[in-house]
Amino acid sequence: MAETATLTFNGTTLELPIVTGTEGERAIDIRHLRNATGLITLDSGYGNTGATESSITFIDGEKGILRYRGYPIEQLAEHARFTEVAYLLMFGDLPTETQHTEFRRQLSENQFMHEALTHHFDGFPENAPPMAILSAMVSAAGCFEPALARADDDDHFLELAARLMSKVRTIASASYCKSIGHPINYPRSDLRYTANFLHMMFSLPFRPYEPHPVVVDALDKLLILHADHEQNCSTSTVRMVCSSRASMSAAVSAGINALWGPLHGGANAAVIDMLEKIRRSGESIKTYVERVKTDPNTKLMGFGHRVYKNFDPRAKIIKEACDSVLQKLGIQDPMLDMAMELEAVALQDDFFVERKLYPNVDFYSGIIMRAIGIPTNMFTVMFAIGRLPGWIAHWREVRMAAGGRIDRPRQVYQGPVARDFVPVENR
Ligand code: CMC
Repeated sequence: MAETATLTFNGTTLELPIVTGTEGERAIDIRHLRNATGLITLDSGYGNTGATESSITFIDGEKGILRYRGYPIEQLAEHARFTEVAYLLMFGDLPTETQHTEFRRQLSENQFMHEALTHHFDGFPENAPPMAILSAMVSAAGCFEPALARADDDDHFLELAARLMSKVRTIASASYCKSIGHPINYPRSDLRYTANFLHMMFSLPFRPYEPHPVVVDALDKLLILHADHEQNCSTSTVRMVCSSRASMSAAVSAGINALWGPLHGGANAAVIDMLEKIRRSGESIKTYVERVKTDPNTKLMGFGHRVYKNFDPRAKIIKEACDSVLQKLGIQDPMLDMAMELEAVALQDDFFVERKLYPNVDFYSGIIMRAIGIPTNMFTVMFAIGRLPGWIAHWREVRMAAGGRIDRPRQVYQGPVARDFVPVENR
């Protein structure tokens, strides 16, 4: 007999079905709760709410497990390329050599921006935040490429996904070049995805940039680690926007804005800002940690996670990669020493231990990006480039779901009860 949970309210007893996932996670299906009892569920922040069933990414927060389509993140970060992982997330399986070649061909074919789109950069002020530019330009790209704004045709999904992935990379690097007064670089088809991005960021007409293989590999790893993370804030945003049948570019543009916040993707830049502030102020790490514990407005950025309550496997991989990249490139970054001291102090402190707060993916990622030469204001853009395949995979999952309904949560209203309109002269 199928398992159920029993709920009794006001004399009515209801058997609620239990849904079990492939990894044994269990959920109570409350779809018919309101019809049967008049009740809804309340879970602000969605800490205990499964918004969907999904087959893309699995996380076990207690054990520190992260898998994309079943593959452990450790194996993917060690052996795969970002483009393979992107394909895996979007299509469900690692590509064969032929499929990978075709995907990379599509990425190259679609990497140019419509020339008219490049003129949009001139309209932004010099100090415009790169995440604002990215989201605006992804929306604008939908105007120039109707396929991005239509996207209900699964036969052309590969091309569509490649178009957006390529475009975002070109837009991101162009916005950086514009922000420092450099000419926009055209992409090079002979370079792989990450190396091409570095070329577009750093090449100058009189000095082409030849990326160091260590840097290319580090960037590949970084993007892989950011590629998906199930129902996080930006991905849930993408899914919700898609549920209204909005286009891929509209949904991804919304996702970019959700990612921007310092509690989400913006944390990678906030970590470096925090470390720089501590260094400038001369405050000791111990004093700073004490301040975090007593001041509700000061957080230890790059620490804590809604789901991981033991360790974030991505942080573990990034910390090791950080050490190795800095060593191979012969870079000594005092920020790395500060970050390691901060981590050591926090991990021995009851405040963090009791609350199960550990370094997350954003704690060390900024230090790798600094080593690669990425400026702090581009950190969250890098996160967006990495997360793109995940967003696209979720967009497709929502679009393909049979009978998919529009996402529309309910609420418990706590405002004024009904009252009559009062003319202005009587208020
Ligand atoms: N520094 C100090 N205290 C913290 C922190 C932190 N970074 N994170 C959580 N806490 C405290 C929080 O104040 C609360 O304390 P109390 O029980 O006394 O009220 C307790 O720990 C539980 O935290 P919570 O607010 O219920 O946690 P949450 O699941 O709502 O928030 C989070 C998760 C990631 C937003 C939060 O830990 C945070 O703000 N971290 C800093 C920002 C950050 O690094 N974000 C990146 C997240 S990982 C990548 C991504 O998703 O983009």
